[in-house]
Amino acid sequence: MKNIVVLVSGGGTNLQRIIECIDNGEIPNANISLVVADRDCFGLERAKNHGIPTQLIPRGKSFSSELKQILPANTDLIVLAGFLSILNKEFCESFPGKIINIHPSLLPKFGGKGMWGHHVHEAVLASNEKESGATVHYVTSGIDEGEIILQKSFKISDGENLETLSEKIHTIEYEIFPKAINLVLSKI
Ligand code: GAR
Repeated sequence: MKNIVVLVSGGGTNLQRIIECIDNGEIPNANISLVVADRDCFGLERAKNHGIPTQLIPRGKSFSSELKQILPANTDLIVLAGFLSILNKEFCESFPGKIINIHPSLLPKFGGKGMWGHHVHEAVLASNEKESGATVHYVTSGIDEGEIILQKSFKISDGENLETLSEKIHTIEYEIFPKAINLVLSKI
Protein backbone atom coordinates (compact mmCIF):
# COMPACT_ATOMS: atom_id res chain seq x y z
CA MET A 1 0.00 0.00 0.00
CA LYS A 2 1.41 3.38 -1.07
CA ASN A 3 0.84 6.37 1.21
CA ILE A 4 -0.04 9.69 -0.37
CA VAL A 5 -0.10 13.12 1.26
CA VAL A 6 -2.21 15.69 -0.63
CA LEU A 7 -1.66 19.45 -0.36
CA VAL A 8 -4.59 21.79 -1.14
CA SER A 9 -5.45 25.49 -1.02
CA GLY A 10 -8.91 25.65 -2.54
CA GLY A 11 -12.10 23.86 -3.46
CA GLY A 12 -10.37 20.53 -3.76
CA THR A 13 -12.25 18.99 -6.67
CA ASN A 14 -9.04 17.28 -7.80
CA LEU A 15 -8.61 15.93 -4.27
CA GLN A 16 -12.21 14.63 -4.48
CA ARG A 17 -11.40 12.89 -7.76
CA ILE A 18 -8.30 11.25 -6.24
CA ILE A 19 -10.33 10.08 -3.23
CA GLU A 20 -12.93 8.56 -5.58
CA CYS A 21 -10.27 6.87 -7.72
CA ILE A 22 -8.73 5.27 -4.64
CA ASP A 23 -12.19 4.11 -3.52
CA ASN A 24 -13.15 2.66 -6.91
CA GLY A 25 -9.77 1.06 -7.62
CA GLU A 26 -8.71 3.35 -10.50
CA ILE A 27 -5.76 4.19 -8.26
CA PRO A 28 -5.08 0.77 -6.73
CA ASN A 29 -3.19 0.00 -3.54
CA ALA A 30 -3.01 3.57 -2.34
CA ASN A 31 -4.15 5.48 0.68
CA ILE A 32 -4.32 9.20 1.48
CA SER A 33 -2.72 9.35 4.90
CA LEU A 34 -2.99 13.13 5.32
CA VAL A 35 -4.38 16.24 3.63
CA VAL A 36 -2.54 19.48 4.41
CA ALA A 37 -3.84 22.96 3.56
CA ASP A 38 -2.05 26.29 3.74
CA ARG A 39 -5.31 28.15 4.43
CA ASP A 40 -8.81 27.31 5.51
CA CYS A 41 -10.49 25.89 2.41
CA PHE A 42 -13.19 23.50 1.27
CA GLY A 43 -10.56 20.92 0.34
CA LEU A 44 -10.08 20.34 4.08
CA GLU A 45 -13.81 19.66 4.47
CA ARG A 46 -13.73 17.14 1.65
CA ALA A 47 -10.93 15.26 3.42
CA LYS A 48 -12.73 15.36 6.79
CA ASN A 49 -15.92 14.07 5.12
CA HIS A 50 -13.95 11.00 4.07
CA GLY A 51 -12.33 10.46 7.45
CA ILE A 52 -8.90 11.51 6.18
CA PRO A 53 -6.66 13.22 8.77
CA THR A 54 -6.11 16.91 8.03
CA GLN A 55 -3.68 19.57 9.09
CA LEU A 56 -3.71 23.32 8.52
CA ILE A 57 -0.30 24.99 8.32
CA PRO A 58 -0.80 28.71 7.64
CA ARG A 59 1.04 29.90 4.53
CA GLY A 60 4.27 31.74 5.18
CA LYS A 61 8.04 31.36 5.29
CA SER A 62 8.06 28.37 7.64
CA PHE A 63 5.45 26.33 5.74
CA SER A 64 7.95 23.90 4.18
CA SER A 65 9.84 23.22 7.40
CA GLU A 66 6.61 22.73 9.37
CA LEU A 67 5.32 20.38 6.69
CA LYS A 68 8.53 18.38 6.87
CA GLN A 69 8.07 17.97 10.61
CA ILE A 70 4.53 16.59 10.39
CA LEU A 71 4.90 14.53 7.22
CA PRO A 72 4.25 10.85 8.06
CA ALA A 73 7.51 8.90 7.88
CA ASN A 74 5.99 6.35 5.49
CA THR A 75 4.96 8.93 2.86
CA ASP A 76 5.57 7.62 -0.68
CA LEU A 77 4.17 10.53 -2.69
CA ILE A 78 3.25 14.18 -2.10
CA VAL A 79 0.51 15.41 -4.44
CA LEU A 80 -0.16 19.13 -4.95
CA ALA A 81 -3.82 19.38 -5.95
CA GLY A 82 -4.58 23.07 -6.35
CA PHE A 83 -1.91 24.07 -3.84
CA LEU A 84 -0.77 27.69 -4.02
CA SER A 85 2.26 28.04 -1.71
CA ILE A 86 5.75 27.49 -3.07
CA LEU A 87 7.68 24.66 -1.38
CA ASN A 88 11.24 25.72 -0.67
CA LYS A 89 14.37 24.32 -2.33
CA GLU A 90 15.42 22.31 0.70
CA PHE A 91 12.02 20.60 0.90
CA CYS A 92 11.89 19.85 -2.86
CA GLU A 93 15.41 18.44 -2.80
CA SER A 94 14.58 16.21 0.18
CA PHE A 95 11.95 14.32 -1.84
CA PRO A 96 13.27 13.98 -5.42
CA GLY A 97 10.76 12.26 -7.71
CA LYS A 98 8.21 12.13 -4.91
CA ILE A 99 6.35 15.43 -5.31
CA ILE A 100 3.97 16.09 -8.21
CA ASN A 101 1.74 19.03 -9.14
CA ILE A 102 -1.17 19.68 -11.48
CA HIS A 103 -1.10 22.91 -13.46
CA PRO A 104 -3.93 24.35 -15.59
CA SER A 105 -1.94 25.05 -18.77
CA LEU A 106 0.28 23.36 -21.30
CA LEU A 107 3.58 23.89 -19.50
CA PRO A 108 6.10 25.38 -20.12
CA LYS A 109 3.55 27.91 -21.38
CA PHE A 110 1.77 29.99 -18.72
CA GLY A 111 3.76 28.69 -15.76
CA GLY A 112 5.91 30.31 -13.08
CA LYS A 113 5.40 32.75 -10.23
CA GLY A 114 1.89 34.21 -10.01
CA MET A 115 0.54 31.80 -12.60
CA TRP A 116 -2.21 29.87 -10.88
CA GLY A 117 -5.93 29.27 -11.29
CA HIS A 118 -7.81 32.12 -12.95
CA HIS A 119 -4.59 34.08 -13.61
CA VAL A 120 -3.55 31.31 -15.97
CA HIS A 121 -6.95 31.22 -17.69
CA GLU A 122 -6.94 35.03 -18.10
CA ALA A 123 -3.45 34.97 -19.61
CA VAL A 124 -4.42 32.18 -22.00
CA LEU A 125 -7.56 34.04 -23.12
CA ALA A 126 -5.59 37.27 -23.61
CA SER A 127 -3.09 35.45 -25.83
CA ASN A 128 -3.55 34.18 -29.34
CA GLU A 129 -3.18 30.57 -28.26
CA LYS A 130 -5.11 28.05 -30.33
CA GLU A 131 -5.09 25.41 -27.61
CA SER A 132 -4.83 24.97 -23.87
CA GLY A 133 -4.86 22.05 -21.47
CA ALA A 134 -3.42 20.73 -18.23
CA THR A 135 -0.09 19.29 -17.12
CA VAL A 136 1.03 17.00 -14.32
CA HIS A 137 4.72 17.44 -13.55
CA TYR A 138 7.34 16.67 -10.95
CA VAL A 139 7.95 19.47 -8.46
CA THR A 140 11.47 20.86 -8.28
CA SER A 141 12.77 24.09 -6.79
CA GLY A 142 12.07 25.94 -10.08
CA ILE A 143 8.39 26.94 -10.14
CA ASP A 144 6.48 24.75 -12.65
CA GLU A 145 9.79 23.65 -14.19
CA GLY A 146 9.99 19.97 -13.22
CA GLU A 147 9.79 17.13 -15.73
CA ILE A 148 6.37 16.65 -17.33
CA ILE A 149 4.62 13.39 -16.49
CA LEU A 150 1.39 13.80 -18.49
CA GLN A 151 -0.20 16.57 -20.50
CA LYS A 152 -3.43 16.81 -22.47
CA SER A 153 -4.66 19.60 -24.72
CA PHE A 154 -7.88 20.81 -26.34
CA LYS A 155 -8.69 23.42 -28.99
CA ILE A 156 -9.78 26.81 -27.71
CA SER A 157 -13.21 27.63 -29.21
CA ASP A 158 -14.47 30.96 -30.52
CA GLY A 159 -16.18 32.69 -27.62
CA GLU A 160 -14.26 30.72 -24.97
CA ASN A 161 -14.53 32.49 -21.60
CA LEU A 162 -13.10 32.07 -18.11
CA GLU A 163 -15.87 29.72 -17.05
CA THR A 164 -15.79 27.44 -20.10
CA LEU A 165 -12.00 27.33 -20.12
CA SER A 166 -11.84 26.45 -16.44
CA GLU A 167 -14.47 23.75 -16.85
CA LYS A 168 -12.69 22.14 -19.81
CA ILE A 169 -9.38 22.21 -17.97
CA HIS A 170 -10.86 20.63 -14.86
CA THR A 171 -12.36 17.85 -16.98
CA ILE A 172 -8.91 17.13 -18.43
CA GLU A 173 -7.35 17.30 -14.96
CA TYR A 174 -9.76 14.67 -13.63
CA GLU A 175 -8.61 12.41 -16.48
CA ILE A 176 -4.83 12.88 -16.39
CA PHE A 177 -4.22 13.28 -12.64
CA PRO A 178 -5.15 9.71 -11.61
CA LYS A 179 -3.22 8.34 -14.60
CA ALA A 180 -0.15 10.37 -13.66
CA ILE A 181 -0.39 9.26 -10.01
CA ASN A 182 -0.48 5.62 -11.15
CA LEU A 183 2.52 6.17 -13.43
CA VAL A 184 4.56 7.75 -10.66
CA LEU A 185 3.53 5.21 -8.02
CA SER A 186 4.52 2.37 -10.34
CA LYS A 187 8.11 3.70 -10.23
CA ILE A 188 8.29 4.26 -6.47
C1 GAR B 1 -6.73 23.31 -10.70
O1 GAR B 1 -7.20 23.77 -11.94
C2 GAR B 1 -5.20 23.26 -10.70
O2 GAR B 1 -4.66 22.98 -11.95
C3 GAR B 1 -4.86 24.66 -10.28
O3 GAR B 1 -5.79 24.99 -9.29
C4 GAR B 1 -7.03 24.33 -9.59
C5 GAR B 1 -7.52 23.68 -8.32
O4 GAR B 1 -8.82 23.19 -8.47
N1 GAR B 1 -3.51 24.72 -9.79
C6 GAR B 1 -2.70 25.74 -9.99
O5 GAR B 1 -3.05 26.76 -10.58
C7 GAR B 1 -1.29 25.59 -9.43
N2 GAR B 1 -0.40 26.50 -10.02
P1 GAR B 1 -9.47 22.27 -7.35
O6 GAR B 1 -9.21 22.94 -6.00
O7 GAR B 1 -10.91 22.24 -7.68
O8 GAR B 1 -8.81 20.92 -7.44
